Amino acid sequence: MTAPLKPVPGRPTHFLDLDGLDTAVLRHLLDVGAAYRRGEDVTGHKPLDGKMLALIFEKPSTRTRVSFEVGMRQLGGGVVVLNSDGTQLGRGESIADTARVLSRYVDAIMIRTGDARKLLDLAANATVPVINGLTNDTHPCQVMADIMTFEQHRGSVAGKVVAWCGDGNNVAASWIQAAGHFGFEMRLACPPMLRPSATAVTWARAKGARIEIVEDPAVAVRDADCVVTDTWVSMGDSGDTEQRRRLLIPYQVNRALMALARPEALFMHCLPAHRGEEVTEEVLDGPQSVVWDEAENRLHVQKSILTWCMA
Ligand code: CP
Ligand code: NVA
Repeated sequence: MTAPLKPVPGRPTHFLDLDGLDTAVLRHLLDVGAAYRRGEDVTGHKPLDGKMLALIFEKPSTRTRVSFEVGMRQLGGGVVVLNSDGTQLGRGESIADTARVLSRYVDAIMIRTGDARKLLDLAANATVPVINGLTNDTHPCQVMADIMTFEQHRGSVAGKVVAWCGDGNNVAASWIQAAGHFGFEMRLACPPMLRPSATAVTWARAKGARIEIVEDPAVAVRDADCVVTDTWVSMGDSGDTEQRRRLLIPYQVNRALMALARPEALFMHCLPAHRGEEVTEEVLDGPQSVVWDEAENRLHVQKSILTWCMA
Protein backbone atom coordinates (compact mmCIF):
# COMPACT_ATOMS: atom_id res chain seq x y z
CA MET A 1 0.00 0.00 0.00
CA THR A 2 1.35 3.45 -0.93
CA ALA A 3 1.53 6.14 1.77
CA PRO A 4 -1.52 8.43 1.92
CA LEU A 5 -0.91 11.58 -0.10
CA LYS A 6 -1.53 14.84 1.66
CA PRO A 7 -3.83 17.38 0.03
CA VAL A 8 -2.62 20.95 -0.61
CA PRO A 9 -3.36 23.06 2.51
CA GLY A 10 -6.06 25.68 2.03
CA ARG A 11 -7.36 24.24 -1.26
CA PRO A 12 -10.23 21.77 -1.52
CA THR A 13 -9.08 18.39 -2.82
CA HIS A 14 -11.28 17.99 -5.89
CA PHE A 15 -11.65 14.83 -7.96
CA LEU A 16 -12.50 16.33 -11.34
CA ASP A 17 -10.71 14.50 -14.14
CA LEU A 18 -7.95 11.94 -14.40
CA ASP A 19 -5.76 14.23 -16.53
CA GLY A 20 -5.58 16.77 -13.69
CA LEU A 21 -4.54 14.29 -10.99
CA ASP A 22 -1.17 12.77 -10.15
CA THR A 23 -0.52 9.17 -11.09
CA ALA A 24 0.69 8.49 -7.52
CA VAL A 25 -2.60 9.81 -6.11
CA LEU A 26 -4.64 7.64 -8.49
CA ARG A 27 -2.55 4.57 -7.63
CA HIS A 28 -3.07 5.29 -3.92
CA LEU A 29 -6.84 5.61 -4.48
CA LEU A 30 -6.89 2.25 -6.31
CA ASP A 31 -4.90 0.59 -3.52
CA VAL A 32 -7.22 1.89 -0.81
CA GLY A 33 -10.26 0.92 -2.90
CA ALA A 34 -8.94 -2.63 -3.28
CA ALA A 35 -8.33 -2.79 0.48
CA TYR A 36 -11.94 -1.72 1.11
CA ARG A 37 -13.07 -4.48 -1.26
CA ARG A 38 -11.08 -7.02 0.75
CA GLY A 39 -12.80 -5.76 3.90
CA GLU A 40 -9.66 -4.21 5.42
CA ASP A 41 -10.17 -1.32 7.82
CA VAL A 42 -7.46 0.78 6.12
CA THR A 43 -8.82 4.21 7.00
CA GLY A 44 -10.03 3.37 10.49
CA HIS A 45 -13.56 2.92 11.74
CA LYS A 46 -16.06 5.40 10.20
CA PRO A 47 -13.47 7.96 9.00
CA LEU A 48 -16.20 10.30 7.70
CA ASP A 49 -18.25 10.28 10.89
CA GLY A 50 -20.61 13.27 10.81
CA LYS A 51 -19.58 14.40 7.30
CA MET A 52 -22.19 15.16 4.65
CA LEU A 53 -22.00 14.80 0.87
CA ALA A 54 -24.38 16.57 -1.53
CA LEU A 55 -25.19 14.61 -4.68
CA ILE A 56 -26.39 16.80 -7.57
CA PHE A 57 -28.02 14.94 -10.45
CA GLU A 58 -28.85 16.75 -13.67
CA LYS A 59 -29.06 13.36 -15.42
CA PRO A 60 -30.44 9.99 -14.30
CA SER A 61 -28.36 7.46 -12.36
CA THR A 62 -28.64 4.13 -10.58
CA ARG A 63 -25.06 2.98 -9.80
CA THR A 64 -23.53 6.40 -9.09
CA ARG A 65 -26.38 7.46 -6.87
CA VAL A 66 -26.55 4.26 -4.82
CA SER A 67 -22.80 3.62 -4.57
CA PHE A 68 -22.06 7.16 -3.34
CA GLU A 69 -24.88 7.04 -0.78
CA VAL A 70 -24.03 3.57 0.50
CA GLY A 71 -20.30 4.43 0.50
CA MET A 72 -20.85 7.58 2.59
CA ARG A 73 -22.99 5.68 5.09
CA GLN A 74 -20.42 2.89 5.40
CA LEU A 75 -17.79 5.56 6.14
CA GLY A 76 -19.97 7.09 8.88
CA GLY A 77 -21.36 10.06 6.93
CA GLY A 78 -24.57 10.92 5.14
CA VAL A 79 -25.85 12.40 1.89
CA VAL A 80 -28.33 14.93 0.57
CA VAL A 81 -29.57 14.14 -2.94
CA LEU A 82 -30.51 17.05 -5.18
CA ASN A 83 -32.24 16.38 -8.47
CA SER A 84 -31.99 19.51 -10.58
CA ASP A 85 -35.70 19.63 -11.34
CA GLY A 86 -36.46 19.86 -7.61
CA THR A 87 -33.99 22.65 -6.79
CA GLN A 88 -33.44 26.30 -7.66
CA LEU A 89 -30.63 25.16 -9.99
CA GLY A 90 -33.35 23.83 -12.24
CA ARG A 91 -34.98 27.31 -12.18
CA GLY A 92 -31.81 29.15 -13.15
CA GLU A 93 -29.90 29.82 -9.90
CA SER A 94 -26.27 29.86 -10.95
CA ILE A 95 -23.93 26.98 -10.30
CA ALA A 96 -21.50 29.41 -8.65
CA ASP A 97 -24.09 30.58 -6.12
CA THR A 98 -25.18 26.98 -5.56
CA ALA A 99 -21.53 26.10 -4.85
CA ARG A 100 -21.20 28.91 -2.29
CA VAL A 101 -24.40 27.92 -0.52
CA LEU A 102 -23.81 24.17 -0.46
CA SER A 103 -20.27 24.75 0.86
CA ARG A 104 -21.87 26.20 4.02
CA TYR A 105 -23.86 23.01 4.64
CA VAL A 106 -21.91 20.01 3.39
CA ASP A 107 -18.35 18.68 3.39
CA ALA A 108 -18.18 17.64 -0.30
CA ILE A 109 -20.27 17.83 -3.46
CA MET A 110 -20.64 15.28 -6.24
CA ILE A 111 -22.21 16.44 -9.50
CA ARG A 112 -23.49 14.62 -12.56
CA THR A 113 -24.16 17.12 -15.29
CA GLY A 114 -23.95 17.58 -19.07
CA ASP A 115 -21.71 20.57 -19.64
CA ALA A 116 -18.25 20.04 -18.15
CA ARG A 117 -17.97 23.81 -17.62
CA LYS A 118 -20.58 23.47 -14.87
CA LEU A 119 -18.35 21.01 -13.04
CA LEU A 120 -15.42 23.43 -13.27
CA ASP A 121 -17.58 26.37 -12.23
CA LEU A 122 -18.80 24.41 -9.22
CA ALA A 123 -15.22 23.51 -8.25
CA ALA A 124 -14.01 27.09 -8.74
CA ASN A 125 -16.66 28.46 -6.40
CA ALA A 126 -17.00 25.72 -3.78
CA THR A 127 -14.88 25.78 -0.65
CA VAL A 128 -15.37 22.02 -0.23
CA PRO A 129 -14.15 19.19 -2.51
CA VAL A 130 -16.07 18.55 -5.74
CA ILE A 131 -16.28 15.11 -7.37
CA ASN A 132 -17.11 14.48 -11.03
CA GLY A 133 -19.95 11.96 -11.21
CA LEU A 134 -20.06 12.13 -15.07
CA THR A 135 -20.25 14.89 -17.63
CA ASN A 136 -20.75 14.70 -21.39
CA ASP A 137 -16.94 14.68 -21.62
CA THR A 138 -15.69 12.23 -18.97
CA HIS A 139 -16.59 9.68 -16.28
CA PRO A 140 -13.50 9.35 -14.07
CA CYS A 141 -15.04 7.48 -11.09
CA GLN A 142 -16.24 4.82 -13.51
CA VAL A 143 -12.85 4.28 -15.08
CA MET A 144 -11.13 4.13 -11.68
CA ALA A 145 -13.53 1.25 -10.88
CA ASP A 146 -12.75 -0.29 -14.28
CA ILE A 147 -8.97 -0.24 -13.75
CA MET A 148 -9.52 -1.70 -10.29
CA THR A 149 -11.64 -4.47 -11.80
CA PHE A 150 -9.06 -5.33 -14.45
CA GLU A 151 -6.34 -5.57 -11.79
CA GLN A 152 -8.61 -7.60 -9.48
CA HIS A 153 -8.80 -10.27 -12.18
CA ARG A 154 -5.54 -9.98 -14.14
CA GLY A 155 -2.98 -8.09 -12.04
CA SER A 156 -1.25 -4.90 -13.16
CA VAL A 157 -2.79 -3.21 -16.20
CA ALA A 158 0.62 -1.83 -17.24
CA GLY A 159 1.68 -3.15 -20.63
CA LYS A 160 -1.75 -4.62 -21.40
CA VAL A 161 -3.94 -3.82 -24.42
CA VAL A 162 -7.45 -2.45 -23.90
CA ALA A 163 -9.75 -2.32 -26.93
CA TRP A 164 -12.70 0.08 -26.99
CA CYS A 165 -15.44 -0.60 -29.56
CA GLY A 166 -18.18 1.86 -30.47
CA ASP A 167 -18.94 5.47 -29.61
CA GLY A 168 -15.86 7.47 -28.59
CA ASN A 169 -17.79 8.95 -25.67
CA ASN A 170 -17.23 10.28 -22.13
CA VAL A 171 -16.24 6.88 -20.71
CA ALA A 172 -13.79 6.35 -23.61
CA ALA A 173 -12.16 9.72 -22.83
CA SER A 174 -11.55 8.74 -19.19
CA TRP A 175 -10.12 5.38 -20.34
CA ILE A 176 -7.72 7.24 -22.63
CA GLN A 177 -6.64 9.47 -19.74
CA ALA A 178 -6.17 6.36 -17.57
CA ALA A 179 -3.83 4.92 -20.24
CA GLY A 180 -1.68 8.03 -19.79
CA HIS A 181 -1.34 7.24 -16.09
CA PHE A 182 -1.14 3.49 -15.93
CA GLY A 183 0.96 2.55 -18.97
CA PHE A 184 -1.41 0.38 -20.98
CA GLU A 185 -2.14 0.58 -24.69
CA MET A 186 -5.57 1.75 -25.80
CA ARG A 187 -6.97 0.81 -29.22
CA LEU A 188 -10.25 2.47 -30.04
CA ALA A 189 -12.43 1.36 -32.93
CA CYS A 190 -14.98 4.07 -33.64
CA PRO A 191 -16.91 5.31 -36.69
CA PRO A 192 -15.24 8.46 -38.12
CA MET A 193 -18.11 10.65 -36.89
CA LEU A 194 -17.86 9.31 -33.34
CA ARG A 195 -14.14 9.42 -32.63
CA PRO A 196 -12.97 10.06 -29.05
CA SER A 197 -11.88 13.38 -27.57
CA ALA A 198 -8.80 14.70 -29.38
CA THR A 199 -7.81 16.54 -26.18
CA ALA A 200 -7.73 13.32 -24.19
CA VAL A 201 -5.77 11.55 -26.93
CA THR A 202 -3.20 14.36 -27.17
CA TRP A 203 -2.79 14.45 -23.38
CA ALA A 204 -2.34 10.68 -23.03
CA ARG A 205 0.13 10.50 -25.92
CA ALA A 206 2.14 13.33 -24.36
CA LYS A 207 2.31 11.19 -21.20
CA GLY A 208 3.81 8.41 -23.33
CA ALA A 209 0.72 6.25 -23.79
CA ARG A 210 0.14 4.34 -27.00
CA ILE A 211 -3.33 5.32 -28.25
CA GLU A 212 -4.50 3.99 -31.60
CA ILE A 213 -7.74 5.00 -33.26
CA VAL A 214 -9.02 2.75 -36.02
CA GLU A 215 -12.27 2.13 -37.86
CA ASP A 216 -12.22 -1.66 -37.90
CA PRO A 217 -13.17 -3.27 -34.56
CA ALA A 218 -11.33 -6.47 -35.55
CA VAL A 219 -8.07 -4.50 -35.74
CA ALA A 220 -8.62 -3.02 -32.29
CA VAL A 221 -9.66 -6.25 -30.60
CA ARG A 222 -7.04 -8.64 -32.04
CA ASP A 223 -5.00 -10.07 -29.13
CA ALA A 224 -6.42 -7.50 -26.69
CA ASP A 225 -6.43 -8.23 -22.94
CA CYS A 226 -9.70 -6.41 -22.37
CA VAL A 227 -12.62 -5.43 -24.60
CA VAL A 228 -14.79 -2.50 -23.52
CA THR A 229 -17.91 -0.92 -24.93
CA ASP A 230 -20.72 1.40 -23.84
CA THR A 231 -24.17 2.42 -24.95
CA TRP A 232 -24.59 3.70 -28.49
CA VAL A 233 -26.71 6.63 -27.28
CA SER A 234 -25.48 8.40 -24.16
CA MET A 235 -27.67 10.52 -21.91
CA GLY A 236 -28.18 13.86 -23.62
CA ASP A 237 -26.99 12.74 -27.07
CA SER A 238 -29.07 14.69 -29.53
CA GLY A 239 -29.58 14.28 -33.25
CA ASP A 240 -30.66 11.30 -35.25
CA THR A 241 -30.34 8.34 -32.89
CA GLU A 242 -31.37 5.90 -35.63
CA GLN A 243 -28.49 7.10 -37.80
CA ARG A 244 -26.15 6.66 -34.80
CA ARG A 245 -27.34 3.11 -34.30
CA ARG A 246 -26.79 2.31 -37.98
CA LEU A 247 -23.24 3.67 -37.80
CA LEU A 248 -22.51 1.61 -34.69
CA ILE A 249 -23.95 -1.78 -35.70
CA PRO A 250 -20.55 -3.00 -37.01
CA TYR A 251 -19.04 -2.26 -33.57
CA GLN A 252 -21.28 -4.63 -31.61
CA VAL A 253 -19.26 -6.78 -29.19
CA ASN A 254 -20.39 -10.32 -29.96
CA ARG A 255 -18.89 -13.79 -29.72
CA ALA A 256 -17.13 -13.51 -33.09
CA LEU A 257 -15.44 -10.25 -32.11
CA MET A 258 -14.47 -11.53 -28.63
CA ALA A 259 -12.89 -14.58 -30.29
CA LEU A 260 -10.25 -12.28 -31.83
CA ALA A 261 -9.07 -11.12 -28.40
CA ARG A 262 -6.78 -13.17 -26.17
CA PRO A 263 -8.56 -16.23 -24.77
CA GLU A 264 -8.25 -14.80 -21.24
CA ALA A 265 -9.53 -11.34 -22.30
CA LEU A 266 -12.05 -9.67 -20.04
CA PHE A 267 -15.21 -7.94 -21.23
CA MET A 268 -16.20 -4.68 -19.52
CA HIS A 269 -19.13 -2.28 -19.73
CA CYS A 270 -19.95 0.55 -17.32
CA LEU A 271 -23.69 -0.27 -17.54
CA PRO A 272 -26.54 0.26 -18.17
CA ALA A 273 -26.18 -2.18 -21.10
CA HIS A 274 -28.49 -2.62 -24.06
CA ARG A 275 -28.42 -6.31 -24.83
CA GLY A 276 -28.52 -6.91 -28.59
CA GLU A 277 -27.16 -3.42 -29.37
CA GLU A 278 -23.60 -2.61 -28.28
CA VAL A 279 -23.16 -6.08 -26.76
CA THR A 280 -24.86 -9.42 -27.20
CA GLU A 281 -26.47 -11.19 -24.29
CA GLU A 282 -24.03 -14.09 -24.54
CA VAL A 283 -21.01 -11.81 -24.11
CA LEU A 284 -22.53 -9.66 -21.36
CA ASP A 285 -23.63 -12.71 -19.39
CA GLY A 286 -20.72 -14.90 -20.50
CA PRO A 287 -17.62 -16.13 -18.64
CA GLN A 288 -15.33 -13.30 -19.80
CA SER A 289 -17.67 -10.57 -18.55
CA VAL A 290 -16.78 -8.82 -15.28
CA VAL A 291 -19.49 -6.17 -15.45
CA TRP A 292 -20.98 -6.92 -12.02
CA ASP A 293 -17.56 -6.62 -10.38
CA GLU A 294 -17.16 -3.31 -12.20
CA ALA A 295 -20.43 -2.09 -10.74
CA GLU A 296 -19.42 -3.28 -7.25
CA ASN A 297 -16.02 -1.61 -7.50
CA ARG A 298 -17.72 1.77 -7.97
CA LEU A 299 -18.57 1.52 -4.27
CA HIS A 300 -15.07 0.59 -3.13
CA VAL A 301 -13.12 3.09 -5.21
CA GLN A 302 -15.52 5.95 -4.46
CA LYS A 303 -15.12 5.29 -0.73
CA SER A 304 -11.41 5.71 -1.34
CA ILE A 305 -12.00 8.94 -3.30
CA LEU A 306 -14.34 10.27 -0.60
CA THR A 307 -11.90 9.67 2.25
CA TRP A 308 -9.06 11.24 0.23
CA CYS A 309 -11.13 14.30 -0.70
CA MET A 310 -12.38 14.84 2.85
CA ALA A 311 -9.19 13.86 4.69
N1 CP B 1 -22.21 3.44 -14.85
C1 CP B 1 -22.93 4.43 -14.29
O1 CP B 1 -22.43 5.54 -14.02
O2 CP B 1 -24.22 4.09 -14.03
P1 CP B 1 -25.39 5.04 -13.57
O3 CP B 1 -25.75 5.92 -14.73
O4 CP B 1 -26.50 4.12 -13.20
O5 CP B 1 -24.94 5.87 -12.40
N1 NVA C 1 -21.87 7.05 -21.83
C1 NVA C 1 -22.98 6.85 -20.93
C2 NVA C 1 -22.50 6.38 -19.60
C3 NVA C 1 -23.58 6.09 -18.62
C4 NVA C 1 -23.07 5.68 -17.28
C5 NVA C 1 -23.77 8.12 -20.80
O1 NVA C 1 -23.16 9.20 -20.68
O2 NVA C 1 -25.00 8.06 -20.85
